Amino acid sequence: MTAWLDTLLFGIYPYICLAVFFIGSLIRFDRDQYTWKSDSSQLLRTGSLRWGSNLFHVGVLFLFFGHFVGMLTPHFIYEHFIGAGAKQLMAMVSGGIAGVLGIIGLSLLLHRRLTDPRIRATSKTSDIVLLWLLWIQLALGLATIPLSAQHMDGSMMMRLAEWGQRIVTFRTGGVELLAGAGWVFKAHMFLGMTVFLIFPFTRLVHVWSGFGTLAYVLRPYQLVRARRLNLPAGHNQPAAK
Ligand code: HEM
Repeated sequence: MTAWLDTLLFGIYPYICLAVFFIGSLIRFDRDQYTWKSDSSQLLRTGSLRWGSNLFHVGVLFLFFGHFVGMLTPHFIYEHFIGAGAKQLMAMVSGGIAGVLGIIGLSLLLHRRLTDPRIRATSKTSDIVLLWLLWIQLALGLATIPLSAQHMDGSMMMRLAEWGQRIVTFRTGGVELLAGAGWVFKAHMFLGMTVFLIFPFTRLVHVWSGFGTLAYVLRPYQLVRARRLNLPAGHNQPAAK
């Protein structure tokens, strides 16, 4: 891939995606709160939704946190207890299992959305585009596993992680690290960033709320105080009807 295209796709595009993701989500929340929902179709037909949605969400949530922690944790924090090669193997096995669960679930969801007349009729174009995009993204992620198996020393994984860390910490030099990465890795990265780009315009906004509900764990108790007036005994009872 020519250098200018690499710079555009992996040096500039990430910031466009992140800016649209954060600013777009804020604007959608501010202007369109009634559209801010997962848009569940459970009431229309439960059927394969139960297996499809659960398998998909278990897989994709694991992958989300796996990418977040695996890519963005600086190497020096874990190098004392796990080497790059072992970390790559762990990522390939756990990510592979989660990816297979996720793609089975997503295939069920996609099949249901395209073939069930009630679900199809109530689907927005963005619902269908999103499912296809996530399906291709999962397939590309799984396709990287045999490629990674050709170099088990973890060096490519380290370079990809370093690229991610440089992007989120606004440091230069990340793009050059991708020189030896194959097109499957690059396509997976490009589509991954595109998920952030389209996020505010789809039902994906429910992911913010999903994580937001964790705030309930830390929420202070609700205090309910009885209204007591300082009146002589017998006078602070509510009047009998
Ligand atoms: C943060 C935790 C999350 C919660 C609580 C959550 C919850 C839900 C709920 C309630 C639905 C409606 C469908 C159903 O009834 O199962 C749904 C649908 C969906 N979610 Fe999530 N979700 C979460 C994270 C994610 C993530 C990380 C992704 C992908 C990046 C995702 C992608 C989707 C998609 C594509 C659908 C539509 C599936 C369909 O075709 O019906 N969700 N989610």
